[in-house]
Amino acid sequence: MTEERLQKVIAEAGIASRRAAEKLITAGRVKVDGHVVTKLGIKVTTFSNITVDDEPIERESLHTYLFYKPRGIISSAKDDKKRKTVTDYFSALPYRLYPIGRLDYDTSGALLMTNDGELANLLMHPKNEVAKVYVAKIKGHLAPDEIHQLATCVTFDGFHSRPARVKIIRSDPKKKIQIVQLIIHEGHYHQVKRMFETVGHDVEKLAREQYAFLTLEGLISGEWRELSHEEVEKLKRL
Ligand code: URA
Repeated sequence: MTEERLQKVIAEAGIASRRAAEKLITAGRVKVDGHVVTKLGIKVTTFSNITVDDEPIERESLHTYLFYKPRGIISSAKDDKKRKTVTDYFSALPYRLYPIGRLDYDTSGALLMTNDGELANLLMHPKNEVAKVYVAKIKGHLAPDEIHQLATCVTFDGFHSRPARVKIIRSDPKKKIQIVQLIIHEGHYHQVKRMFETVGHDVEKLAREQYAFLTLEGLISGEWRELSHEEVEKLKRL
């Protein structure tokens, strides 16, 4: 069961900022399951009954969706240039959803959207990065030493990539392109494109086919489905 800090839950209910929520708690105005709580940092669950000045707070239920992001869509919640964003696809839902990590504007594929801050933090923490399966259409053909480099470590902008899995899916000698699967456990900015560029091959097209154990099976571009409770729990255990 998801446990969260009391001040965070109060803040997420839209009653006060995190700081102001802490003041409400220390002032003795908050009760959990009928008992006044003045200590900061106590954890509550979705089932805890929380009141502020004896008024129950409204808890937002937690939801996570697997979205098949189309190309040509921004991953952030807002865009200065008023381009379509991933949140636009969820505008009919009454939750404030955020993407877990990012996919580039011109990258398609599996993107998780959630209002579960704990899940997002857990999955984005560098220590817990889950496997992400990308398929890239690259210019030219990878040489054995380039494959070795991708699989062991590529350095760009002072960043050293961790070991990756590389698999050539298809080579087209006429068009001088290759379709390559790359599995990484990180999420550095433009990481896949930069890795290929660094070993000498531009990426013409990029898609993320899988995020952890979640594939896009059954979805078409622009569609989403809600994750089951079991799937969310499995992600938390990874
Ligand atoms: N790596 C990239 O270069 N772009 C993405 O969108 C995701 C990973």
